[in-house]
Amino acid sequence: MADTLTVTDNRTGKSYELPISHGTVNAMDFRQIKVTDDEFGMMVYDPGYKNTASCKSRITFIDGEKGILRYRGYPIEQLAERATFLEVAQLLINGELPTREQHEKFVEEVTVHTFVHENMKSFLEGFRYDANPMSMFISSVAALSSFYPEAKDVLDEECRRAQMIRLIAKVPTLAAFAYRHSQGLPYVYPRNDLSYSGNFLAMIFNINQPNYQPHPTLERAFDVLFTLHADHEQNCSTSTMRAVGSSQVDPYSALAAAAAALYGPLHGGANRMVLYMLEEIGSKDKVPEFIKKVKNREALLMGFGHRVYKNYDPRARIIKKLAHEVFEITGVNPLLDIALELERIALEDEFFVKRKLYPNVDFYSGLIYQAMKFPIDFYPVLFAIGRTVGWLAQWREMLLDKEQKIARPRQIYLGEGARDYVPLEER
Ligand code: CMC
Repeated sequence: MADTLTVTDNRTGKSYELPISHGTVNAMDFRQIKVTDDEFGMMVYDPGYKNTASCKSRITFIDGEKGILRYRGYPIEQLAERATFLEVAQLLINGELPTREQHEKFVEEVTVHTFVHENMKSFLEGFRYDANPMSMFISSVAALSSFYPEAKDVLDEECRRAQMIRLIAKVPTLAAFAYRHSQGLPYVYPRNDLSYSGNFLAMIFNINQPNYQPHPTLERAFDVLFTLHADHEQNCSTSTMRAVGSSQVDPYSALAAAAAALYGPLHGGANRMVLYMLEEIGSKDKVPEFIKKVKNREALLMGFGHRVYKNYDPRARIIKKLAHEVFEITGVNPLLDIALELERIALEDEFFVKRKLYPNVDFYSGLIYQAMKFPIDFYPVLFAIGRTVGWLAQWREMLLDKEQKIARPRQIYLGEGARDYVPLEER
């Protein structure tokens, strides 16, 4: 069996044999298909990149039909249960789990880079008291680029590594500062004696307790949540990281763009939309009415559906279980009943079954965040902290990939032909 695809152009009767590699044909091979020699050649049209592979990657594997997610070959369930987030960070970036020695060195490096320049505080002071924390986060990540002008040397591995450490270390600090600003609370400096997640909780919740210790269950919950959000192959924000990074801009600017892409309600902003939706539904008995609205296309069931998963999102399954552990400490979120009822009805209803719509990662995460008393608008920031690692791993892979070029899609131009300018007074 030949690994080729034969394409016959019925306009000319000519046949072309295109090589197939990894179940894919190279879009550039279509360019040879022309009716006349002076034509541009055939392109492929794929709005939303629904069937276009933009890269070859060795980082994350998803089987959307079976509901499988693996980082570098390791099942997400095992990593969530047994690894720390910083181990997962090393795995995603370097390709292998670290040895103890490599891990201790990495943890030390991340820990000593958690502080941000003092000017960052005055930068954040410029935001109104009610500014959305995600706007503050995106802007402050972009602003980091001005503190590290050497970061533009993106083709140098040592330089790349230094910026990756800085970003992983500093995003929790920027996130926590954004939170404290929005609450009118003084900023809390990082604590080097705590774990990555423990330090984050301290910067968020500590009010004047010199020996503040995060609750171990909540600390572990955050490690799991960061791990679950760490990477998800070529989603909207990761594609943005790769596309912006492909211009060889510094990683702070590229990561700010990726975070901006994450913010939208169809992507990482969905976790906050789920909470607004649950609050709007208000009680369990109103669920059937809301489902009717969704089926009439008057609303989306936020936290449901996925471009790749046509089965239960494995992350949602882990988060649902985690929610119960967190609720033992925080008390049960009263919206849980509504969420469970929504899931129950949706999983039985033909509309959702036919379209293979299942809960995604955002469906239950917001319930945990709310139980921990995070304001709803802060949820996408929490997503961004974990995803920073994935964005960086994908950015590095893109820069090292000799087949990659600056991201620059084509278009099908359907606008006006050439016409002459008419002066304003004659129009
Ligand atoms: N509620 C109701 N109907 C839906 C939903 C939903 N949440 N999601 C998809 N559908 C319907 C959609 O209307 C379409 O129906 P039809 O074929 O009859 O027109 C069908 O299902 C296929 O949907 P699609 O919009 O073509 O699928 P997509 O791959 O373009 O969109 C999605 C994927 C995640 C944007 C979409 O499912 C959605 O908007 N979900 C709600 C927002 C959400 O939860 N986003 C988080 C995604 S997971 C984590 C992340 O990326 O941040």
